[in-house]
Amino acid sequence: MTQSAAAASTSSAAAHAAIAAAATTDFFISEADVVRRAGRLGAEIRNVALGGDLPDAAIEAIHRLLLRHKVVFFRGQHHLDDAEQERFARRLGDLVPHPTIGALKGTASILELDASRGGGRADQWHTDVTFVDAHPKFSVLRGVVIPEFGGDTVFANTVSAYEDLPAPLRQLAGSLWAVHSNAYDYAVKSRATDADRKHFDEVFTGTVYETEHPVVQVHPETGEHALLLGNFVQRFVGLNKGDSQKLFDLFQSHITAPENTVRWGWQAGDVVIWDNRATQHYAVNDYGNQKRVVHRATVDGDVPKSIDGQRSILRKKVAK
Ligand SMILES: [Fe+2]
Repeated sequence: MTQSAAAASTSSAAAHAAIAAAATTDFFISEADVVRRAGRLGAEIRNVALGGDLPDAAIEAIHRLLLRHKVVFFRGQHHLDDAEQERFARRLGDLVPHPTIGALKGTASILELDASRGGGRADQWHTDVTFVDAHPKFSVLRGVVIPEFGGDTVFANTVSAYEDLPAPLRQLAGSLWAVHSNAYDYAVKSRATDADRKHFDEVFTGTVYETEHPVVQVHPETGEHALLLGNFVQRFVGLNKGDSQKLFDLFQSHITAPENTVRWGWQAGDVVIWDNRATQHYAVNDYGNQKRVVHRATVDGDVPKSIDGQRSILRKKVAK
């Protein structure tokens, strides 16, 4: 192992120990109410009613569990509406509207994903909004209308994906930067409708962004190293499209390996919160014409930092 690879794995081990220690000193949420849902990430938290008035200790406990498990699931949050969902989400940080779609009227950040409308099916592996430099920290997603079957969301752990890479691939990833854009090749989507295409052309890419991110991001809160890729990646800096695609597929396959994921079967009233700096997700598009509506509140993030301390750079922001 090289010095830098050894240093990377030592700092990661220290970060894990810190998170584990924090999680065991929790008095608001008992260990019995935290039920792990898969080996690499994901825990259901029981007996908590989310809301804007939760005591600070509860918010801190949820925050710690979120950093530890990367995605946390809450059933039965039927008491929430958009306003209360946002009051809760605001306790985790400042809210931010989607940069091109904006927010639902009367809300600070609520993004409605309605499967019956264009752009309502997020059936590609991605980390939210990585085409901007300071992409979101947390997403808080609430199930409003859930189909009778299908429509699960799958989450992947981008920290374990990095840590499990063989050392030469970790080094390669650490040396690469990627160009992310919302104006990606839409033809790669296999189930897009005319409405989806129209939404993509006229709304989603109304302003075109391009940002260069390090392929390995240092998590600002845990110090863990995470792969930062997903479907907004266009190419790697300094590599042509063909070589970029091969390397992208290689790294992405480690992220989306079934063993590195957790799958959530939604019920109406569920709230799912993920750490957008340590995960990717995919909304499984297997429910046909059934209605599916989810509302996302989004917490603003920081500009990512590479292992050697360089910040991501917004290269382009052009209104069509
Ligand atoms: Fe998403």
